[in-house]
Amino acid sequence: MAIVSAKEMLFKASKQKYAVGAFNITSLVQMEAIIEAAVEKNTPVIIQTSVTPTKFLKAEVVVAIFKALAQSVNIPVCLHLDHCTDVEFCKKCADLGYTNIMFDGSHLNFEENVKRTREVSDYCHQIGDISVEGELGTVSGVEDQIKVAEDDAQLCDPDKSLEFVERSGIDLFGPAIGTAHGIYQTENPVIDFERLGKIFQKLNQPLIQTPLVVHGGTGLSEPVVRNLIEKGGAKYNVSTNLKYILMDSTFEYISAHPKEYDPGKMDKHVKMATKQRIEYWIDLLGSTGMAM
Ligand code: 13P
Repeated sequence: MAIVSAKEMLFKASKQKYAVGAFNITSLVQMEAIIEAAVEKNTPVIIQTSVTPTKFLKAEVVVAIFKALAQSVNIPVCLHLDHCTDVEFCKKCADLGYTNIMFDGSHLNFEENVKRTREVSDYCHQIGDISVEGELGTVSGVEDQIKVAEDDAQLCDPDKSLEFVERSGIDLFGPAIGTAHGIYQTENPVIDFERLGKIFQKLNQPLIQTPLVVHGGTGLSEPVVRNLIEKGGAKYNVSTNLKYILMDSTFEYISAHPKEYDPGKMDKHVKMATKQRIEYWIDLLGSTGMAM
């Protein structure tokens, strides 16, 4: 029950109008905190690694620790490779045991994006129950050192979304709708809810077929988050917020205990801070109690 692919988990979320938190990690303390918080909240959850931390930690190590943690709990948990632009690395992570793979071809032209995403989809579907996420349009901001300026970002064309999904063979779809990775430069970012709603209608009416992913989850107000879920967002990505919690809580601990030199105590403090924040997100996304 514990380790699943995201598709099924997100079908239920799409139908019942809540979102599953997809949390990016850069350290294993964060992975433990997320799983513990999800168990306490009895929620499904997705752990994500972008390419740089996956390579730094080593994909084999991430998968081994993920399996050890996830197999011992009774909630559905996924391991997702986030924003990978390299087809071969996608395949490698699928081989090693990631349950979801995102091929990010949003920087490519439409045909090339379809072609490379299709290669990843076919590979993942052939080797097992592995979901594939694709993106159309570009999300601005910085994710994993990849910077997309606001003027370069283009929103996803709803009329193209169905063609993209059908031809690329993906299971989950991340349309660009005005959200951005990193910290928003303005207090009221312009989010195109109507566009998200239209894409949801095209892909998921009358039957849920391709759950939608919201990228750029940090820094949006609670009403905005609820509206994104109402319009069809079923996987909600949070990265930057967790990086801030990790670094701020580390700094806080060291500043308060400058002479202690006991990293275990510092890890415990960071884990608690991360866990509290994950619990906040789980409640906001409405997935509390939805594990079964
Ligand atoms: P944030 O950096 O806004 O949290 O976005 C995360 C994300 O979308 C990862 O794919």
